[in-house]
Amino acid sequence: MNDGENSDPVSFEEYSIVAQGLQKSFGKLKVLSDLSVKIPRGTTYCLLGPNGSGKTTFIRAVAGLLRLDGGDLSVLGEPVSNVCRVYPRIGYMTQHKALYPDLTLQENMEFYAGLYGIEGARMSERISELLEMVDLADHSQRITGALSGGMYQRLSLACTLIHEPDLLLLDEPTVGVDPILREAFWRFFDDLAEKGSTILITTHLMDEAERCKIVGYMRAGRMLAEGSPEELKRLAGLQPILKLSVKEPEASATRLAAGGFDASVVEGELHVAIEEHRKLKEVLDLVEPLDLRLVEPTLGDAFLRLAEEVQR
Ligand SMILES: Nc1ncnc2c1ncn2[C@@H]1O[C@H](COP(=O)(O)OP(=O)(O)OP(=O)(O)O)[C@@H](O)[C@H]1O
Ligand SMILES: [Mg+2]
Repeated sequence: MNDGENSDPVSFEEYSIVAQGLQKSFGKLKVLSDLSVKIPRGTTYCLLGPNGSGKTTFIRAVAGLLRLDGGDLSVLGEPVSNVCRVYPRIGYMTQHKALYPDLTLQENMEFYAGLYGIEGARMSERISELLEMVDLADHSQRITGALSGGMYQRLSLACTLIHEPDLLLLDEPTVGVDPILREAFWRFFDDLAEKGSTILITTHLMDEAERCKIVGYMRAGRMLAEGSPEELKRLAGLQPILKLSVKEPEASATRLAAGGFDASVVEGELHVAIEEHRKLKEVLDLVEPLDLRLVEPTLGDAFLRLAEEVQR
């Protein structure tokens, strides 16, 4: 969870990104509003939030591409005003197209390699390795502008990784990428994090967020909730629901309610919130189901609940 104001002094060894009270407006529009977040090294951190909640703006601030109106931000131990010192250790894949459309895939990768001083045999080796990883090795001589949307994303990721960055900023990297390759990307991200890289990633896909070690949910430019996917579900007060098909759902619901259970009838089905798994047996003793299934809460449910709470 977010630390309060009186938190311990921050160890920059421990955190790749430390943001405290970030403020940013575009004209009258407040886009970052007292945003505080600490992102530990060697983790996968997912930023979630509705369109326009400030995710890309935060990532651009981390990459030093934005002048903040207020707050403190450090990246890989450097204040963001000096972020150029750590540029060689950062990889940034933007949400929008950033490659040269008239160059071939190979040429775009060579261009990125050149930016980071990677040359000669090391460059050729790294390019073949990465094109292989994103399954584009057979297309290296094609013109980038003619790639399909998913292929373009794959090439963007390969370019971002050319210099083996310690901090990866990935803004919706898997948009348009097919499910098989998406899985391969995620295995690769997990692997990089295990080796010590920090991955800050945005996505609108809950199954991807669920794979991250930490999820931060932004809304209107501030961090609304943060924690592991399991912590967030608990924070939203969500419990697994036992869904039962029974002969007399209303009568069963009344019986369960009398026994202290949170039970309701939804479209003829009996739903019972299960606080602890050992309560399952008690429910089954009180009703005789014809059929049943236990539905675990999803991260998507948690965010809907958290968003409702904020609107109240
Ligand atoms: N350079 C800019 N000038 C003016 N407004 C901007 C600029 N950049 C971002 N904004 C506005 O700031 C708000 C936050 O934008 P941002 O791109 O950070 O959102 P996001 O959370 O990344 O959204 P999405 O999920 O759609 O990518 C939006 O209302 C956007 O229009
Ligand atoms: Mg964005």
